Amino acid sequence: DRSIGVAVLGMGNVGSEVVRIIDENAADLRARVGAPVEIRGIAVRDLGKPRKVAQDLLTDDPAALVARDDVDIVVELMGGIDPARGLIRAALESGKSVVTANKALLAEYTGELATAAADAKVDLYFEAAVAGAIPVVRPLMQSLAGDTVERVAGIVNGTTNYILSAMDETGADYADSLAEAGRLGYAEADPTADVEGYDAAAKAAILASIAFHTRVTAADVHREGISSVTASDLAAAKKFDCTVKLLSICERVHDADGRQRISARVYPALIPLSHPLATVNGAFNAVVVEAENAGRLMFYGQGAGGSPTASAVLGDMVMAARNKVHGGRGPLESTYASLPIAPVDDV
Ligand code: NAP
Ligand code: HSE
Repeated sequence: DRSIGVAVLGMGNVGSEVVRIIDENAADLRARVGAPVEIRGIAVRDLGKPRKVAQDLLTDDPAALVARDDVDIVVELMGGIDPARGLIRAALESGKSVVTANKALLAEYTGELATAAADAKVDLYFEAAVAGAIPVVRPLMQSLAGDTVERVAGIVNGTTNYILSAMDETGADYADSLAEAGRLGYAEADPTADVEGYDAAAKAAILASIAFHTRVTAADVHREGISSVTASDLAAAKKFDCTVKLLSICERVHDADGRQRISARVYPALIPLSHPLATVNGAFNAVVVEAENAGRLMFYGQGAGGSPTASAVLGDMVMAARNKVHGGRGPLESTYASLPIAPVDDV
């Protein structure tokens, strides 16, 4: 009987939870996949750090791990563009399916990676790259594939939502709240990505690309972060029965002449306390999708953190493993129209 070999690249906040769950849920995963799922190796930078895993699984040579013949699925949880991009390409080009949570990479290179996956007829899954545990990528790519999405909007960064909620609810200090978000495993390795809106912009690019079947990169997204939001801004918002949230808004813009463009923007916004997004606090995220026929859908849950994100990674890994065992394929990212991007001042 064959087993499914998994290479895990990265054993930080998310990777360590993925490894734990694969180990603890081995029997369930075997039943759900139809074959045993076995970790062949785990790539890290520092082999000397204490970790809850057998030392002989660890390597500091991710390229050699990816190249192993007994690896069927590569789970990339290192972050950053390089070497992750080259490792994922190498995996796809050698017929391995890839699961990644790397939104910074996907926001620039989904086109290149999706083409490599399609050419090799393997899966490239990235549910965990947007909104942690919340299933939103697969609903957009599969459940809504026959509808016309008009708008995808919400809170997609847990760190900034944690900071803004703490400042608003308890008067917590900005720097202390950011440090706590780092300790809780919510923040990026460089938290500038969170507080300056780069992470939310990357997620907006991914959401806009899959919702509108077009190519949007992070550079197309208008971006403002929360580093200049002060306690007095939040106090002023409260006087108007509002709060401040970092919103990500992606929408189809219909011009008067019937042409369509896409607008994607991330900025701190005043939200009335009566609005559902005002009640999304801590590291929780919420995404509202408006589609022509489905109407309004709301997705809500834990948007950051090791085990919530690992849940989404594991879902993708099970799908990719099932496809390896039973011969199926995931949805192809193949039908992209080319809708122009609307300048933010136009919408
Ligand atoms: P992290 O805690 O910084 O962990 C990164 C891991 O990758 C570490 O184990 C590190 O090794 C390893 N690594 C980094 N560069 C490497 C290299 N060149 N060679 C070998 N190993 C390398 O990051 P994380 O929070 O788990 O996030 C991982 C990915 O998931 C990122 O793309 C992030 O954006 C994404 N993500 C994170 C969350 C979250 O809530 N944290 C949620 C959704 C998506 P060492 O341990 O030796 O340093
Ligand atoms: N740093 C990210 C956040 C992790 O805070 O939302 C989840 O993508």
